[in-house]
Amino acid sequence: ERGAASSAIAFAIAALISPFTSAAPQLTRDNGAPLGDNQNSQTAGQNGPTLLQDVHLLQKLQRFDRERIPDRVVHARGTGAHGVFVASSDVSALTRAKVFTKGTETPVFVRFSTVIHGNHSPETLRDPRGFATKFYTGEGNWDLVGNNLPIFFIRDAVKFPDMVHSLKPAPETNVQDPNRFFDFFSHQPESTHMLTQVYSDLGTPKGYRFMDGNGVHAYKFVNAAGTVNYVKFHWKSLQGIQSLTGPEASAVQGKDFNHATNDLVDAIKRKEFPRWELYVQVLKPAELGKFDFDALDATKIWPGVPETKLGTMTLNRNPANIFQETEQSAFAPSNLVPGIEPSEDKLLQGRVFSYADTQMYRLGPNALQLPINQPRVAAVNHHQDGAMNAGKRAGNVNYEPSRQSPLAVNPDFKSSQLPLSGSTVQQRIAKPQNFRQAGEFYRSLPAQQQKNLVANLAGDLGQVKDEEVRYMMLSYFYKADAAYGTALAAALGDKVAQVASRAAALAD
Ligand code: HEM
Repeated sequence: ERGAASSAIAFAIAALISPFTSAAPQLTRDNGAPLGDNQNSQTAGQNGPTLLQDVHLLQKLQRFDRERIPDRVVHARGTGAHGVFVASSDVSALTRAKVFTKGTETPVFVRFSTVIHGNHSPETLRDPRGFATKFYTGEGNWDLVGNNLPIFFIRDAVKFPDMVHSLKPAPETNVQDPNRFFDFFSHQPESTHMLTQVYSDLGTPKGYRFMDGNGVHAYKFVNAAGTVNYVKFHWKSLQGIQSLTGPEASAVQGKDFNHATNDLVDAIKRKEFPRWELYVQVLKPAELGKFDFDALDATKIWPGVPETKLGTMTLNRNPANIFQETEQSAFAPSNLVPGIEPSEDKLLQGRVFSYADTQMYRLGPNALQLPINQPRVAAVNHHQDGAMNAGKRAGNVNYEPSRQSPLAVNPDFKSSQLPLSGSTVQQRIAKPQNFRQAGEFYRSLPAQQQKNLVANLAGDLGQVKDEEVRYMMLSYFYKADAAYGTALAAALGDKVAQVASRAAALAD
C-alpha cells in the first residue's frame, strides 16, 4: 500500500515538473498498450535482479538490437530530397512515357551519394557521386539511377564486383589502398577516361547542388507506334558546376565532413530550391554504328550529338525521416515504364539484375511496398507473401489467367523487338577505343585544372609501389595525351621515355 501511495506521489510530482502537459501523447509499447514507466526496469525488490516479465524492457532492447539493416554494398553514404519534375517539351514522337507528356508534373525522390566508403564516411572523398531519381509516374515508378560523371570505369558487368573489391578498404587493413585499385585498373585500359574525370576536381564536388547528373548508358525511347531510338540522359545543374580542389577538400573535411548533406538540407530549409534541367541525346538505331567507337560502350560519351530538353526538376522538401525515406529507398535500373527500355549496353544489362536482387537482400522481397518505394498507381499482380508483407490483397484467386477474377494484359505494353542474328559469344567489343576521349577531356580542361588533375592523380599513383602497375597506368594516361602522361611521369619522378615506349605499344 505504501508503495502504491509513494508511486502515486512520484507520478504527481513528475507531472508537475514535467515540461509536457497531459496533452502530450501517451507513451506505448509496440502493441499500443500504454506504459507506466520508461525510466526504471522491473526488478525483484529494489536491489534484486531484473524480471523477465518486463516486456517493455525486452521489447525496447530487442528493437534497438535490430536497428541496423545492411548498408548498400556501394553508395552507402547519401542524402535524399523530395521534389517535382515538370515536362516541358512535346517528345511524343520519341517516347510514349507519360512522364514526358508536356506540362505533366511528376513527384520525385532523389538520393545523392558517394560510392565506395560506408555510411557516415566523409563526403569530401574523391569518388563519383550517385544521382538517383525516382519518378512516381502515372504508369508506375521510373528510376533513373545515374552518376555525376557521364561515363563509367568498365563496360561489362562481369567486372563490377572485382572492381569494387579493389576500390573498397583492403581485407587485411580495412584501409583503401591505391596499390590495390591501380593493380586492378592496370588491366583495364578502358578505365582511363573515367579515372581522368574522377581525378579531376569533378571527383570532389562542392556540394550535391553543384553537379550535373548522367544516366551514363544508352537507354531506348519507344514511341506509341513502337519506333525505337537510343538515348542518353543528362541532368544539368541550374546552380552551376562547382568543385573543390584537393587542398580545399582537405580543408572542408577538417571542418565539416558532412558538407554536401548540410549544404543541400540547409538550402531547402532556406527555400533556395535546387533545380536541374533534364536533356536527352538521341540516336536512331542505324546511327549507332557511325562512330569509330561503340555507341553502347558505357566508357564513352556521344560527342556532337545534339541535346533535347525534356523538363526541369526542383527539389523542395527534406525527408522527415532519413531511415524510412533515404535509407529504405530502393532505386533500380529495372524500374522502367512503358516508353523507356534498357539498351544492349553490357554494363546496363548487369545492373538491370543487380539492384533489384541486392534490394531483396537489403530490404526484403517486399521492398517496393515501403511507402518511399510504392508506386502512386496500384501494383496489381500475384506476387505474394514473403517477409514483411504489408500489401493489400484479398480474394481466392492468386494466379493468372483466371475466369473467376480476370486481369487485363494489354499487348501495347509489350517490349520493343530487337532484330538478331549470329551466335552467342563471350568476347570484347569490336571498337574499344580506350584512350581518345580521355585525351579529349584532358585537353578540354583549363590549364589550372589540368595541373590539379595531375596533382590529384600523382598523389595516389605515387603511393603505388609496384613499378609495373605504375608504368602501365602512366602509359594509359600518356596514350590519352602525351603532355598529360609526361606531366604525370614528371610529378612521380618516373622515366618519360619508358612510359612513351609502352604507350606506343598499346592498341587504340
Ligand atoms: C547503387 C550495382 C554500375 C549508380 C548500387 C547498388 C548495387 C549496384 C548493388 C546498391 C543498391 C541498393 O542497395 O539499393 C552496380 C553494378 C554496376 C553498377 C552491378 C555495373 C554492372 C553503376 C553505374 C552507375 C551506378 C554505371 C551510374 C550510372 C549507382 C547509384 C547507386 C548505386 C547512383 C545508389 C542508388 C541509391 O542512392 O540508392 N549499384 N552498379 N552504378 N549505383 Fe550502381
